[in-house]
Amino acid sequence: MSWRITDTELLETALLELKLKLAQTIGVHDGMTVVDVGCGQGGFTVSLAKTVGEKGRVLAVDVSDEYFEEFTERLSRHGVKRIVNFVQADAINLRDVMPDETADVVASCRFLEELKQPKNMPKIVKEMARIGKRSRKVAITELCTEPENEAEEAYIRLHQESGDSFSEPHELTEAMKRAKLADIHVEKVETNIWFSPDLAKRNLSHAQVWFDADVAKSLGQLIDKHGMKYPAFLVFSGTKE
Ligand SMILES: C[S@@+](CC[C@H](N)C(=O)[O-])C[C@H]1O[C@@H](n2cnc3c(N)ncnc32)[C@H](O)[C@@H]1O
Repeated sequence: MSWRITDTELLETALLELKLKLAQTIGVHDGMTVVDVGCGQGGFTVSLAKTVGEKGRVLAVDVSDEYFEEFTERLSRHGVKRIVNFVQADAINLRDVMPDETADVVASCRFLEELKQPKNMPKIVKEMARIGKRSRKVAITELCTEPENEAEEAYIRLHQESGDSFSEPHELTEAMKRAKLADIHVEKVETNIWFSPDLAKRNLSHAQVWFDADVAKSLGQLIDKHGMKYPAFLVFSGTKE
């Protein structure tokens, strides 16, 4: 399915659909206990909760409670609040809140890009592996940073300039190997979400607060020229030995 986004409500629906597909891709199903690391505003948490259903559980972890209100509101709106527990903790050490082998699937979506200390990425991957059950999956989803056109390239660059740091795919697979995850796969998932030029510019207009106005303006021109596709995701998965 391909989405042409003209308003923010449609964007929320399209992202939910995408993240539901993602939950299935990483093998989440009915009745499982899943950990969502770096849950943020809860977009991925909702999809995981809908997928595990009433008999399952989602433990949603975030170092910050900045988005807690929006997170709770989103869970309520989608009728999944009872399935989810929020845990405020730094993913580098979850020992106090999650024992070994807590989860059937340990997952994250667009989490590592926001690490304040990117050098901690390997330790965090190791911690994600620790809380997963044996023979089960750890699945890390990040934005694909190989853009398909100049507008996508500018979108990624703006994220980088705002402090996000995207790991190279080989750094991530290496960290997964060192965390003793086996059978490592990298799968590209196309989003098929296209922003209308106006919406994309409105969504990204906040960029002017942080970035040089010329950069934001040139992004607007690129979006006019190419449209703007939400970049593809890369799903890194491995099995705990
Ligand atoms: C882009 S948001 C996540 C988006 C969300 N997963 C989704 O799909 O809708 C990244 C989140 O990671 C959290 N985060 C960053 N570093 C963290 C850490 N060390 N431990 C736990 N959470 C962290 C941030 O607070 C932020 O809420």
